[in-house]
Amino acid sequence: MIQMGRPRIHDSDQLLDAAADIAASEGPAALSMAGVAKATGAPSGSVYHLFPTRATLLGELWLRSIRAFQSGYLEELDGEGALQLEVVNTVKSTLVPDGHPFMTGVFTPNHVECNAAELTVIGKIPEKLNGVYLRNTQNPVHQPLGKYHAFDGDGMLHLMSFSNGRCEYRNRFVPTKGFMQEQEAGGALYAGLIDNPKLAQRPGWGARGGLRDTAATDVIVHAGSALATFYQCGEPYRMDARTLAFKGTAPWVDKVMPDGISAHPKVDPQTGELLFFNYAKKAPYMHFGVIDANDTLVHYVPVALPGPRLPHDMAFTKTYAILNDFPLFWDPELLALGKHKVVYRPELPSRYFGYE
Ligand SMILES: [Fe+2]
Repeated sequence: MIQMGRPRIHDSDQLLDAAADIAASEGPAALSMAGVAKATGAPSGSVYHLFPTRATLLGELWLRSIRAFQSGYLEELDGEGALQLEVVNTVKSTLVPDGHPFMTGVFTPNHVECNAAELTVIGKIPEKLNGVYLRNTQNPVHQPLGKYHAFDGDGMLHLMSFSNGRCEYRNRFVPTKGFMQEQEAGGALYAGLIDNPKLAQRPGWGARGGLRDTAATDVIVHAGSALATFYQCGEPYRMDARTLAFKGTAPWVDKVMPDGISAHPKVDPQTGELLFFNYAKKAPYMHFGVIDANDTLVHYVPVALPGPRLPHDMAFTKTYAILNDFPLFWDPELLALGKHKVVYRPELPSRYFGYE
């Protein structure tokens, strides 16, 4: 038996289109079943017939967007010459490819710097979207002196900039001093995170010592520059946030070396200030500092820690900067012998310092 249903006046795509418009213009919280019915002129019963709940409607909208992106993306991959890449530079590498999990698949090192000015857009970029999306990656360049660790790769920034409905891509290595020295030497000069720092041929950077300052851990925009930083503390490197042109180390660098700046400094959006910390094996073990919106160091004080610690982040409120003293650090007895073994000391309290 063939059932002839009534022709469906409002199909699910029409309803989802209306839902997408409402979510884009007023935010997902403003999306209601009644709003979709009103926008399409459909009886609310038809909306509920196709999407029994608001959650179903949102879920279907999400899945439809993902499917549309994936099918468009796969078509682009199949097409020829869709992506116009301008290779700007290829760095010298001595890396021998192997099956290391952090050298293969999505982690395969990239040694090419390029621009892609005309990207194919699947869907539509809102005209009003102006700005940049920055991300960092770690790309090993040279065969390690010892063992490779995923944190040892040299920092590379990737930029997607959006303006007037267009987008552009660029990627650049962060040309840290250690990176440039190894480019010149044509091979590794510094140890890795799981090597004995003595393996390094030069003193290196970072609280642990012997490491290259990869500036690969964090990227943040302050005073118009992308600021790339290193988890073990190093020099703060600046790249133009819209072009990735290299702008050297921050102008206040000499005032904070040799302890440097840790990854995960914070920009206060109210004041434009950069709040940062560093840590070291020698007293006072930690500093807290503030760079104002004009890129000048205006505050730099020691933080009273009982010994070397391994802080990785900080926080702030409207009135306080908050620094951490956590019971996870290098075993002090082994450290005295030059060994870096991280131990957890649950009997010690976690302490927080607040700076007004
Ligand atoms: Fe981190």
